[in-house]
Amino acid sequence: MKAVGLYKYLPIHHSESLIDITIPKPKAEGRDILVKVNAISINPVDVKVRAPKDKQEETPKILGWDASGIVEEVGEDCKLFKPGDQVYYAGSITRPGTYSEYHLVDERIVGKKPETLNDAQAAALPLTAITAWEGLFERLGIDLNNTQKNKERSILIIGGAGGVGSIAIQLAKLAGLTVISTASQQESINWCKKLGSDYVINHYKPFVEQLEEINLKGVDYIFCLNNTDQHWDQIAASILPQGKICSIVETAEKQDLNVLKSKSATFVWEFMFTRAMFQTEDMQEQHQLLSALSEFIDQKRIVTTLTDVLRPINAENLKKAHGMVESGKMVGKVVIEHFE
Ligand SMILES: NC(=O)c1ccc[n+]([C@@H]2O[C@H](COP(=O)([O-])OP(=O)(O)OC[C@H]3O[C@@H](n4cnc5c(N)ncnc54)[C@H](OP(=O)(O)O)[C@@H]3O)[C@@H](O)[C@H]2O)c1
Repeated sequence: MKAVGLYKYLPIHHSESLIDITIPKPKAEGRDILVKVNAISINPVDVKVRAPKDKQEETPKILGWDASGIVEEVGEDCKLFKPGDQVYYAGSITRPGTYSEYHLVDERIVGKKPETLNDAQAAALPLTAITAWEGLFERLGIDLNNTQKNKERSILIIGGAGGVGSIAIQLAKLAGLTVISTASQQESINWCKKLGSDYVINHYKPFVEQLEEINLKGVDYIFCLNNTDQHWDQIAASILPQGKICSIVETAEKQDLNVLKSKSATFVWEFMFTRAMFQTEDMQEQHQLLSALSEFIDQKRIVTTLTDVLRPINAENLKKAHGMVESGKMVGKVVIEHFE
């Protein structure tokens, strides 16, 4: 089957950074399903795993952690899907990725694809939606169904126009919260507002003053989706007493947790690969949340975050998409559809 992989970790403009290859088609066993991949999306994790380093692979490394496609074959223990089902999912960081014509994934982390979306629109969502859902509703403990209580609460989403922010804004609004997101370009400011953000502030200026301008002394929740190091002091300054903070981006420097003590603020990490990586007993929660998201989409309560589509899936287009994500200025999501 066709695939795009790498042997060496090189800058994206290098001719061998990503290459077109042919690899054996895998077979589904156990709880794995084999999916015929119709569309994939590119995330910052693809760029981070591909980052230049002194390492060489003996067999090609396949990246890619988002896909939409059709179930081709199921393992003997599968209970959730059958051949012909349309699915969307992110997969596991510890397994080969989705830049291949066929792909194996554990059915417990796969969702039923929204019926009202095409493959490109669906492929834009899984990794970022799992992150946003787990961050908001599990790590920060926001009750999606208690919209009455949530109406009195506010959330600051740092990095609102990116892949995760674009779905997080919508889910936070669905829960009834007042949403303040951050963006720095006119295009990303407009995008955050279009997705439902009540206010947009600039992530290169101090948060506290900007929140005061919209009559807020602080926020109940902060969801940090970009550069935790840069924002740490402003996060501590703008969280309300007893507020909750979740970050999805690791720090490069050591940060001082003591700055949160006087406010009794909670800090929690979200890593969307945790369940698949550790095969946690509740890993099927990701099947459930992706299927619940499909329902919200089909009810027109959530929209796709897709902004750019390239075609076909090959090394040339993947290099273009990596370049776009690597710029750090993505608005929404870039997807590549169909192998030729
Ligand atoms: N822990 C997890 O499970 C998990 C899951 C998904 C992603 N992540 C990580 O989370 C980060 C965001 O992912 P993503 O897919 O949303 O990325 P993305 O789509 O590439 O994010 C692009 C957005 O980031 C904004 N941005 C750039 N610099 C910023 C800064 N200094 N502060 C705040 N916002 C800034 C940009 O807004 P402007 O152009 O308006 O400045 C742009 O709209 C990445 O580091 C990714 O690896 C972690």
